[in-house]
Amino acid sequence: MGVEINVEGLTKSFGKQVVFADVSLTIPAGEICVMLGPSGTGKSVFLKTLIGLLKPDRGHVHIEGVDIATCTERDLYAVRKLFGVLFQDGAMFGSMHLYDNVAFPLREHTKKSEGEIRQIVMEKMELVGLVGAEYKLPGEISGGMRKRAGLARALVLDPEIVLFDEPDSGLDPVRTAFLNQLIVDLNAQIEATMLIVTHDINTARTVPDNIGLLYHKHLAMFGPREMLLSSEEPVVRQFLNAQRVGPIGMSEEKDADELAAEEGQELPPLPPIPLQLEPSDGNPRPTQREPGAWCREHGIEPPRGSFEPDMVMAP
Ligand SMILES: Nc1ncnc2c1ncn2[C@@H]1O[C@H](COP(=O)(O)OP(=O)(O)O)[C@@H](O)[C@H]1O
Ligand SMILES: [Mg+2]
Repeated sequence: MGVEINVEGLTKSFGKQVVFADVSLTIPAGEICVMLGPSGTGKSVFLKTLIGLLKPDRGHVHIEGVDIATCTERDLYAVRKLFGVLFQDGAMFGSMHLYDNVAFPLREHTKKSEGEIRQIVMEKMELVGLVGAEYKLPGEISGGMRKRAGLARALVLDPEIVLFDEPDSGLDPVRTAFLNQLIVDLNAQIEATMLIVTHDINTARTVPDNIGLLYHKHLAMFGPREMLLSSEEPVVRQFLNAQRVGPIGMSEEKDADELAAEEGQELPPLPPIPLQLEPSDGNPRPTQREPGAWCREHGIEPPRGSFEPDMVMAP
């Protein structure tokens, strides 16, 4: 049913360069979260810190009672088995066909027979819609198919947590929509905790239960999707609505002159909150909430036109 990830005061720097400081958040078991942020804000570093590939300077990452930041190599090895990771480039071995790529973690980490391995590999290939492409090489297929193959490989050890590093990078909007639907369908089926790192605003607006925004070395905000999509906080508002007016500039923060020039400029109203993408079989996911539930519970009036059925992005 997925496991919770509890991050407390996480700080990571390389030499004198602080990547992020004091990041705290709880990723609830079985839920889908999106972590947004401009390029270079440390999203990939954050994921690597969660799986213990990078050691933080300070802070803790608790998963099932183990602190990834301070645990022994032995505990880390055990806790890593809970994770499936889809790396940004798919990270496929170019000289192996898809079948062997997907089978790789099973051959490395288990003592399963080739018969058992075949059964698992074919089951995951079917889950991601790649049956028939087993004997293709990564170089022979489209970027979208490579992502799916990477996802099949991330799933072979039945992870409780699946991390996606920019699953939509390099994909056209239609492929991205299909991949987003696949992620939602997978979450409904395997109920793993999922964390998607992206800078695709449409993905952030429609897919997750929770959204976080990394900005300027800090976690600007983290919470339920409806909380961020109805937020007037300048950085959150600017990023989630892809606006030019706000504190975020072309390369870094805007300087005082630029901000002064914007003073008094009327912001457009917040756009409506779209319905959350549902599994394609029409059954809600276990962690999915009623549209508008968070806003009602918190006495927040959602932007006009929110949760209208015709706003759903076509898959
Ligand atoms: N292994 C490393 N050594 C030194 N600096 C790194 C390393 N990995 C990432 N960085 C730096 O950390 C910052 C955040 O990188 P990254 O997490 O890749 O950003 P993004 O949000 O685009 O994924 C960048 O400035 C990058 O140059
Ligand atoms: Mg990255």
